[in-house]
Amino acid sequence: MKYGYFDDNTREYVITRPDTPYPWINYLGSEDFFGLFSNTAGGYCFYKDARLLRLTRYRYNNVPTDAGGRYFYINDDGDVWNPSWQPCRKKLERFECRHGLGYSKISSSRNGLKADHIAFVPLGETCEVHRIVMENTANATKAFSLFSFVEFCLWNANDDSQNFQRNLSIGEVEIDGGAIYHKTEYRERRNHYAMFAANRKPDGFDTDRESFIGLYDGFHEPKAVLEDRSQNSIAAGWSPIGSHRFALTLKPGEKTSIVFILGYCENPNDEKYTALHIINKAPAKRLQEKFQTDAQVDAALEKLAVYWEGLLCRFRVKSGEDKLDRMVNIWNQYQCMVTFNMSRSASYFESGIGRGMGFRDSNQDLLGFVHLVPARARARILDIAATQFPDGSAYHQYQPLTKKGNSDVGSGFNDDPLWLITGVSAYIKETGDFSILDETVPFDNEEGSEAPLFEHLRRSFNYTATHKGPHGLPLIGRADWNDCLNLNCFSETPGESFQTTANFESGVAESVLIAAIFLYTAPDFIELCRRRGEDTSEAEQSFADMKRAVDEHGWDGDWFLRAYDAYGKKIGSSECEEGQIFIEPQGFCVMAKVGTDDGRALKALDSVRERLDTEYGVMLQQPAYQTYYLTLGEVSSYPPGYKENAGIFCHNNPWISIAECEMGRGTRAFEVYRKICPAYLEEISDLHRTEPYVYSQMVAGRDAARHGEAKNSWLTGTAAWTFVNVSQHILGIKPGFDGLVIDPCIPAALKGFSVERIYRGKRVVIHVDNSAGVEKGVKSITVNGKPHSGPVTSEGELTTVNVVLG
Ligand code: BGC
Ligand code: NOJ
Repeated sequence: MKYGYFDDNTREYVITRPDTPYPWINYLGSEDFFGLFSNTAGGYCFYKDARLLRLTRYRYNNVPTDAGGRYFYINDDGDVWNPSWQPCRKKLERFECRHGLGYSKISSSRNGLKADHIAFVPLGETCEVHRIVMENTANATKAFSLFSFVEFCLWNANDDSQNFQRNLSIGEVEIDGGAIYHKTEYRERRNHYAMFAANRKPDGFDTDRESFIGLYDGFHEPKAVLEDRSQNSIAAGWSPIGSHRFALTLKPGEKTSIVFILGYCENPNDEKYTALHIINKAPAKRLQEKFQTDAQVDAALEKLAVYWEGLLCRFRVKSGEDKLDRMVNIWNQYQCMVTFNMSRSASYFESGIGRGMGFRDSNQDLLGFVHLVPARARARILDIAATQFPDGSAYHQYQPLTKKGNSDVGSGFNDDPLWLITGVSAYIKETGDFSILDETVPFDNEEGSEAPLFEHLRRSFNYTATHKGPHGLPLIGRADWNDCLNLNCFSETPGESFQTTANFESGVAESVLIAAIFLYTAPDFIELCRRRGEDTSEAEQSFADMKRAVDEHGWDGDWFLRAYDAYGKKIGSSECEEGQIFIEPQGFCVMAKVGTDDGRALKALDSVRERLDTEYGVMLQQPAYQTYYLTLGEVSSYPPGYKENAGIFCHNNPWISIAECEMGRGTRAFEVYRKICPAYLEEISDLHRTEPYVYSQMVAGRDAARHGEAKNSWLTGTAAWTFVNVSQHILGIKPGFDGLVIDPCIPAALKGFSVERIYRGKRVVIHVDNSAGVEKGVKSITVNGKPHSGPVTSEGELTTVNVVLG
């Protein structure tokens, strides 16, 4: 069953009933200020860091779910309702939520009143703008009240949810005209406050939660709204909120609009106050002036639309297959922007207080983002590289605000360093900007330790090349890409972190996946060495050694092995009772061209199809672990079918699809793509549950009670890898160091397509003709009418490329 539809013209997903199978959210903001916004106006916002600078409070795993957000209440002659349905959940005559690119619109009607709420973060601003337009659609005059409501978070979201003995005494606010200022902790070490302002003077306000809602009452029955009377309360400790009340009268057909700004303001330390206890409101006033009128709001919305058009025109396909086109042209790229911005910090499944930016995650997120805003990818690469240790290993995570490595988590994830090479190569292939390699970047953010970025890549490479186990394969450390394969953990203590504990430093456990990632990235590294005039013999030797180790010790007979445990026993082998075959090395070894010339690659991919494939995607491994294995760690801690224990972990499905492309099997590659592609799952929303416009990290596998049910939507490497897969391997428009390499691998039934690409600043239009009905194979290429071979560069303003498959 569907709960809405795609509106491709407006690039929106239109939700037509509020009670979706799970809250279906959107992200507002694209650079520094972000909001999470659900289809029923739930969520929260923050400045830069979801943990440290959170403006509004959100209670995860609440009952009922998704309670708390930016709410508007209407009291229409005693009838109290919300345009967003939540929290009062009064029946609406019409409900529609349109999630668009960087904005969401909720429109609803009840009893002769129509409400239109639009929410967005204007480009370059540190605030959310919420505009409410109320219209009287009845044929008599209506007098009613509109209340706004947000609940402030006391900045550090972690402390906010724990340190009540302090928190309940520190809340402070100030009121000034239509503006409510939340200034908790401003009196001491903060130089920032939050503002919730309206563009006209309200008829009342509240800033104390208990005065507005009541103590034993819920969001769905706030006392002030039910009584139709604000208390004009001034919060002192307890829980500061922001609420305005407007008494509105509308004649039949009349409309009125009110603009609210929920924003973050900062002052220089020596200009914090204008008088004792009176905060300096200058930055707030400047922000307010920008969104006083509808025209200003409309102009900011238009700017946002132009911005997104400018991004999405950088890759656009026309294939005649609607679902494919909308995912590639809109939603997949949009999700890539969100994962780039958030890493794995804030979603409806990631609380924003746990993880910062991941070394491995952010490097992979780049892959799907770099074509959108290369300059931001460049800056991110330098930030990430600065958290690398001098020996080439890396902090697993860093905090976005301080950009410092997170020592609670530390290092020891031995795949991490290699992803830096992947990220940097992707950046150079997209931009041709080799100069990034000369940027000087410190190690561990230590002043004085700066070295050219290229040196960081060399250390990444050498770290892997020199940290090997008994079979000559890379040591896994705490874990590799699969964070749950904790082969040195040996944890018997409840609650002990699987990821950061090593009770048994074996120096033995090895990863075939890291070997494959090494073999996949090595050619790029070697090519970069060559272009810099460096001697490549050592790197080539390391490549050959690793290749030999995989050939000798990484093949199990019908598929690639996964790893060796701390005792040197095989993991992911037919010799094992459970966990006989894992997805990751099958995808990555073939991507690294291991076995592509001797039948092993096809055999491995056929084994994947036979043993791991399901209707809803390819499972991570089989058979699922039924019991906990001390030697394996978290992977065996999950109930069978969930997460890394034989769930369909979407992130590595594209690896299989790419591997299939490598082997020229376009129909199968597309099948793997389609099975986890959200637009193709819209009809089964009841089962799938998460948003039909974005990827989820995981879909429950065949062993699970709810096979096909997705979890952890939005923040997943699936977004980037899928975009790489579909754009570079299926559609086959692949940036290389010297230009675009065009080599599609598509279902035979697809008779052609065209792609528009902005590449290195110029427009390239590529028409692919597959009237021959093949899956792969370029028969001829012409560039601007002339026969061509090799990579396509974009020299003129417009390059037209005609490709014939056959
Ligand atoms: C999850 C992994 C995740 C890891 C690190 C584990 O509990 O299963 O998917 O990568 O935590 O946060
Ligand atoms: C999610 C994590 O963010 C990522 O780093 C990891 O590779 C996967 N889970 C697989 O465990």
